[in-house]
Amino acid sequence: MTDSAFPALHGRPAQGWVNDPNGLVVHDGRYHVFFQYNPDAPVHADIRWGHVSSSDLVRWREEPIALSPRPGAPDEAGCWSGSTIVEDGVPTILYTGVDRRGSGEAGVLRAVPRDAGLQEWTVDGGTIPGTAGAGGLEVRDPYLFHFGGHRYAVQGAGTAGGEPLVALYTCDDLDRWRPLGALLDAADPVAAQLPPVQIWECPNFFPIGDCWVLLLSLWRADGGPLGRGGVVWLIGDLEQTPDGPRFRPQSSGVLDGGDVFYAPQVLQHGERRLLWGWLREPVGETRAVDAGWSGVLTFPRELSLDDGELRSAPAGELTALRADPVRIGADGSIEAQAYELSGTASEIRLVLAGDAAEPVYAYDGPPREHRILVDGSVVEVFAAGAAPVSIRTYPARGRKWRLDAGEGLHARVLALPTENGK
Ligand code: FRU
Repeated sequence: MTDSAFPALHGRPAQGWVNDPNGLVVHDGRYHVFFQYNPDAPVHADIRWGHVSSSDLVRWREEPIALSPRPGAPDEAGCWSGSTIVEDGVPTILYTGVDRRGSGEAGVLRAVPRDAGLQEWTVDGGTIPGTAGAGGLEVRDPYLFHFGGHRYAVQGAGTAGGEPLVALYTCDDLDRWRPLGALLDAADPVAAQLPPVQIWECPNFFPIGDCWVLLLSLWRADGGPLGRGGVVWLIGDLEQTPDGPRFRPQSSGVLDGGDVFYAPQVLQHGERRLLWGWLREPVGETRAVDAGWSGVLTFPRELSLDDGELRSAPAGELTALRADPVRIGADGSIEAQAYELSGTASEIRLVLAGDAAEPVYAYDGPPREHRILVDGSVVEVFAAGAAPVSIRTYPARGRKWRLDAGEGLHARVLALPTENGK
């Protein structure tokens, strides 16, 4: 029986657990997306790096697992999140190794590819000196950047006293990192306005135009079973000080207005900034887990700056998924598992009718351009001038999509293009 909640166009493996996107890189004309993965069960355990690749951001190919915990090694309890850098055309993965079950001790490890297709990876050496937390500092999720002719890294961190910060390192020599204090901490006047949390996870720090952007995933100790409080962006300047670079944010905002979006990562490719995020299962929701899977990455999103705000839009390539128009029934019914709604509307009610008829998405306001991408249980809403909203909702037998939006929105099936199609 087909699982109508499975997001078939999002390129995840059929079974198992998926969380954060990791190690995004373009190599030999292919996009490589790695992700936190447990193929054995839809639970977060023995985390490996899963791997998919694509030449067009639309058709995804599942690749062999790239990294797995090694008994007795500093990643024996999990290969947690990290990123990829490219030097002289060769990618290197930098990831978080968790060394003893339950200890939470983590340091950065390094892996290099064994083949041109990036299918097999070898871990190079042990934990990089200088990268593990000291004095009760919890650190993870390395992400690198260049500034003033030097290479730096950030890691997400929280102090033993429960204060979040972005730990900064200089790492011109990849074999030895030197801590340089905090790129940003909660004492900063803009950061002080963020929701109070204990760890800033998965920092991404990168330039767009003349500005620097920092993304933070907010981890709350009291945030329920998943302990997550959304993702924010900060935009500002990077300043060189005698202690090292310091980020001076001027504005901040929410990266996605839904409550299932977390731990995104940005791929810098030329001038493009492409982002994938993790869409988790809502708390208490078991339908996907009962079918053997949990979590999915978003469609790729393109970031841009607009008047001091960070904007996200579906990557342009996704229009290749557009297929035939969908006839919207007289009662607003839409018979498709994957479809896109687009156009300008001032009132929208998108309902998945069945046991509850609460709208999955509703809008009531001045005419606003919308793109709404639906793929199984994944709904990604992009409204002009607003943060995207990611939603999980579960189509099943007897639950039909219904749209009430006047004449404003068109519906089109989303489907993989044929090989020699558009
Ligand atoms: C974010 C996160 C990261 C960590 C990874 C473990 O969701 O908690 O901080 O590296 O997941 O899977």
